[in-house]
Amino acid sequence: MNLIFLGAPGAGKGTQAEVVSEALNIPQISTGNILREAAKNGTEYGVKAKAAMDSGALVSDDIVIGILKERIAEDDCKKGFILDGFPRTVPQAEALDAMGIKIDKVIEIAVADDTIKQRVSGRRVCEGCGASYHILYKPSKIEGKCDKCGCATIVRKDDQPATVLERLAVYHEKTAPLKNYYEKQGKLVTVEGQEEVSETSKLTLAAVGA
Ligand code: AP5
Repeated sequence: MNLIFLGAPGAGKGTQAEVVSEALNIPQISTGNILREAAKNGTEYGVKAKAAMDSGALVSDDIVIGILKERIAEDDCKKGFILDGFPRTVPQAEALDAMGIKIDKVIEIAVADDTIKQRVSGRRVCEGCGASYHILYKPSKIEGKCDKCGCATIVRKDDQPATVLERLAVYHEKTAPLKNYYEKQGKLVTVEGQEEVSETSKLTLAAVGA
């Protein structure tokens, strides 16, 4: 099954994509994680992407589409995949269609902007493997250390309050139109994401038939 997870920054699409990835045993492809890894390693596109990401803007379509094409050509995607954070603009969605990739469902995790601001302020991410935690809702076992690899957990640079406001504005302008795009294709399923993680996970798993 090929799935897209759509939602505002901090809505919980990464959290839910991980749950579905484990349930269906298909890879979760987070363009944000790929870009952060490239920025950390100082690759050519990583350097270009970093400035946009730190300011809350989107990385250019040509860079992200190139990354995505390479990633879904890998062997582990043959049995299906979950796109977490791609597409994020109508041109990216059109590029995916032009690649001849069949998408089965688009899961929108719907959360109000005020809830998002509160969630993002408590997020911590592992600087080693990128795993995501929350100081209240998903704390790591040892404060400040990743459960998976033991590296330090830190606040993401783009989780500063002013940058979150910018990311939300960009989402409403450039990404929210994708709901209409996929609704017209009959693929959009909206999952209410306001409640706690376990409740949202039940709804998400039901939405994908897992
Ligand atoms: P990316 O990493 O994709 O960030 P994002 O879309 O802004 O999404 P987030 O990771 O912030 O949120 P999420 O919805 O996954 O929420 P999470 O599950 O972590 O992208 C970063 C940047 O990269 C972009 O701004 C852009 O510059 C660039 N980029 C990436 N893809 C691109 C593309 N296709 N085109 C162009 N540029 C691109 O949850 C948030 C927090 O809340 C966590 O702490 C979590 O534990 C907690 N939480 C989750 N669910 C719940 C719940 N139900 N109750 C309480 N807490 C919860």
